[in-house]
Amino acid sequence: MKALVLAGGSGTRLRPFSYSMPKQLIPIANTPVLEYVVRNIADLGVHEIGIIVSGRDNEIQQALGDGSRFGARLTYIRQEDPLGLAHTVAIARDFLGDDDFVMYLGDNMLPDGISDIAEDFAACRPAAHVVVRKVADPRAFGVAELGPGGEVLRLVEKPQQPRSDLALIGVYFFTAAIHQAIAAITPSARGELEITDAIQWLVANGADVRASQYEGYWKDTGKVGDVLACNARILEDLRPSVEGVVDETSVLVGPVVVEKGARIVRSRIEGPAIIGAGTVAEDSHIGPHTSVGRGCAVVQSRLARSIVLDGASVTGVQGLHSSLVGRSASVGITTQSTDRYRLVVGDHTQVEVAA
Ligand code: TTP
Repeated sequence: MKALVLAGGSGTRLRPFSYSMPKQLIPIANTPVLEYVVRNIADLGVHEIGIIVSGRDNEIQQALGDGSRFGARLTYIRQEDPLGLAHTVAIARDFLGDDDFVMYLGDNMLPDGISDIAEDFAACRPAAHVVVRKVADPRAFGVAELGPGGEVLRLVEKPQQPRSDLALIGVYFFTAAIHQAIAAITPSARGELEITDAIQWLVANGADVRASQYEGYWKDTGKVGDVLACNARILEDLRPSVEGVVDETSVLVGPVVVEKGARIVRSRIEGPAIIGAGTVAEDSHIGPHTSVGRGCAVVQSRLARSIVLDGASVTGVQGLHSSLVGRSASVGITTQSTDRYRLVVGDHTQVEVAA
């Protein structure tokens, strides 16, 4: 069995971050989403992993390398334009050969693992085995109708009137039967080759297509709110460790990680929270549910339920909450006037200030 990880796409919902980095490298508890993905796959005993990357990317290759540190062999496959999930399978045809494979969306977090589903698939090797989950509003997803034995009766991509509340989530198992289906479908109204259409083609042509309901934690990290929620959830399992320096006037409460070279000075860090290598926190209150990346400065500030990416600084800001601060960004206060803000705001950025 092989794996195909989808780390291309356009990431419009995660702008402005996706302008300067692949969204799959957004860190959750200071580890890129994509690392959790590759580790989950390696945990299945699958070592041959193809990674779909967009035409402009080499940051992912720098981050994951050849895969040896995960016990895997990674093959990077370039997708020049984001032409759909099924398109990625078509361009990975040489890599996949006729092997069974798991297709895993590179922005999906399933920290409880996928080994039970892999076992379900291996037990009867249907043409396709999808993973579904009850969601409140299925209209943004591929939606599955299941028969009593877990067999898929029908799949529809983003239906206006969903016939069930079971959404397809980011993991799919396939035999080589999927290639014939992908060759048979045409692009959808939004111009993409949809994997949902390919699987529906299998159903319509009498193939065995099954589904498992996923009971563990799942989050698609395609939007800022979901990134923050996922970060908070993953931090819940943080194992505390202090490799940096905490001065005697600082207090760590609950599970806190202070990475190597970080310095905590006259501050309170409320876990779960992680302070990245080389970061300085001074006269600040950080946490709970907060990740600060590497080489950051947090000075005279208070922040909670937030993520600060590498190299950013937050100075003199009280009450930063549910915020995502980009790489090398700076958030600060002005001493000029109390009733004015000065902002340099990038494209598609959201800023909320007190009314
Ligand atoms: P999506 O998040 O559905 O698509 P997107 O990346 O274009 O994001 P947005 O809707 O915000 O513009 O894609 C799911 C995963 O699949 C994600 O990791 C990106 C990846 N992907 C590809 O690798 N190639 C593609 O052609 C598409 C559409 C997605």
